[in-house]
Amino acid sequence: MSCAPVHVNLGFAAGVLFALLVFFIFQQEAAISGLDVATRVAVAQWITLEQLIRAPGATQLIKAPGEVVASDMQRTADIQLIQGSDNSKVVCNREGLSRDWSETCEVDGDVRTNGTALSVTLVPASRSERREWMISPYARGGQKLRSVTLTQLQDRSIAPPCTLTHTMPAVLFGLGGYVGNYWHDYTDILVPLFVASRRYHGEVTFLVSNIQHLPPWLVKYKALLQGLSKYEIVDMDRDAYVRCFPRVTVGLHLDKELTIVPELVPGGRLTMADFTQFVRETYALPRGAPTREADKKPRLLLIHRGDFRRFLNEHEILQAAEAAGFEAPVLSELRVNGSDVEQARLVNTFDVVLGVHGAGLTNAVHLPPGGVLIQVVPYGNMEYLARAEFSQGATDMGLKYLDYSISADESSLMEKLGPEHPAIKDPESIHRSGWENMFELYLKQNVRINTTRFAPTLLQAFDHLRQQQGA
Ligand SMILES: *[C@@H]1O[C@H](CO)[C@@H](O)[C@H](O)[C@H]1NC(C)=O
Ligand SMILES: *[C@@H]1O[C@H](CO)[C@@H](O)[C@H](O)[C@H]1NC(C)=O
Ligand SMILES: *[C@@H]1O[C@H](CO)[C@@H](O)[C@H](O)[C@H]1NC(C)=O
Repeated sequence: MSCAPVHVNLGFAAGVLFALLVFFIFQQEAAISGLDVATRVAVAQWITLEQLIRAPGATQLIKAPGEVVASDMQRTADIQLIQGSDNSKVVCNREGLSRDWSETCEVDGDVRTNGTALSVTLVPASRSERREWMISPYARGGQKLRSVTLTQLQDRSIAPPCTLTHTMPAVLFGLGGYVGNYWHDYTDILVPLFVASRRYHGEVTFLVSNIQHLPPWLVKYKALLQGLSKYEIVDMDRDAYVRCFPRVTVGLHLDKELTIVPELVPGGRLTMADFTQFVRETYALPRGAPTREADKKPRLLLIHRGDFRRFLNEHEILQAAEAAGFEAPVLSELRVNGSDVEQARLVNTFDVVLGVHGAGLTNAVHLPPGGVLIQVVPYGNMEYLARAEFSQGATDMGLKYLDYSISADESSLMEKLGPEHPAIKDPESIHRSGWENMFELYLKQNVRINTTRFAPTLLQAFDHLRQQQGA
């Protein structure tokens, strides 16, 4: 083969982390391995967290009580308008609770935050009923994060006085849960945060709780965070002020895994394609479409995993990809100390991402629209789970989504357990026996792709790209 597989390191997710939904027993494990990997990221190149949090952003519009900052004056009127009329309201979104996603609330009016108490208080314009909500600042439920206490007071007399008055809205969210896993970083935080804050064109403050869970996270995604908010991030747990805002969004809302439901975006329609465009602009990724030059071969990136759900014959798969017409395909190993920008720039030079189900497939976010994501689905009726995490998202990004289901013959389980084992003969019985078994068996297998069987999938990807060259 002309190409010794080039080992490019691609950031984070490696095989270590699983792009998996909801499930309890492994949650902690995933979070802990995520922490470990990501902590090492911090040691790497970038600026320190202190710099990120302390150094003022472009302009700082925080002002002391009674003080008016010039660029802020225009907007002061807006607040008074809201306070003066009876526009105070709390609107909570409980859709998703049935899917174990958390409730979020949007609070309008005279809204005051107390970081150390992790509380958000709505001060009503006139006497009203006292109400209280406990809201998780993380998009998935069941996580060990301190909840935000949201209170609507009866009247103004008991309101905590403002020490800082902001004229822009705020979005409050927390780090925790599965943060540190590449798929969860995008699915649980970055995409929902885009949905919550894009409408403000940077005129929004992010209030972040539980930063100590994974401080390097804010560094890794600094560029994206700054693309959404021009202002300094507030470390809520160490914030000694009562901050006053005209609006605070409490928590991030998941509408669907790794995608956006345009109809549910507050303040105007946005799509997953808008999100990836935002990422390309922010990271200055050069390619917004696959190559259209007829003499250029498309490029395929194979995601290497280190522990389980590994390809056992990577070399052969790369050869098959070359035979299908791809330019010397590249094998990527995910590097723990890579920056997200670096990783994104590399992925953006490709047209196809191919990998076994896992967090590494999230790299498809950085492919040019018109590209292809090929998900290899482990043996054991795992299509539903695998597709739930990537299929709709990839399609909404403007990618062609293909999957390839591993047959029993291609799975390491066959060799390990033999053809008579229930895991081979009757996957549904394993599904019925519970998540733990399913995980141990089907999500810890390795795969040896039959390249003859796989060839049509590669050709389908190739043809999809060729058709666009004709366009
Ligand atoms: C925030 O709330 C805590 C707990 O209720 C309170 O002790 C503290 O004084 C409040 N902070 C400010 C700045 O009011
Ligand atoms: C990342 O770590 C590897 C191995 O520890 C090292 O060779 C490489 O120079 C590091 N890269 C950066 C950008 O720090
Ligand atoms: C590979 O797949 C082809 C086509 O499905 C099949 O004919 C062949 O027997 C398979 N090879 C092995 C080694 O299983």
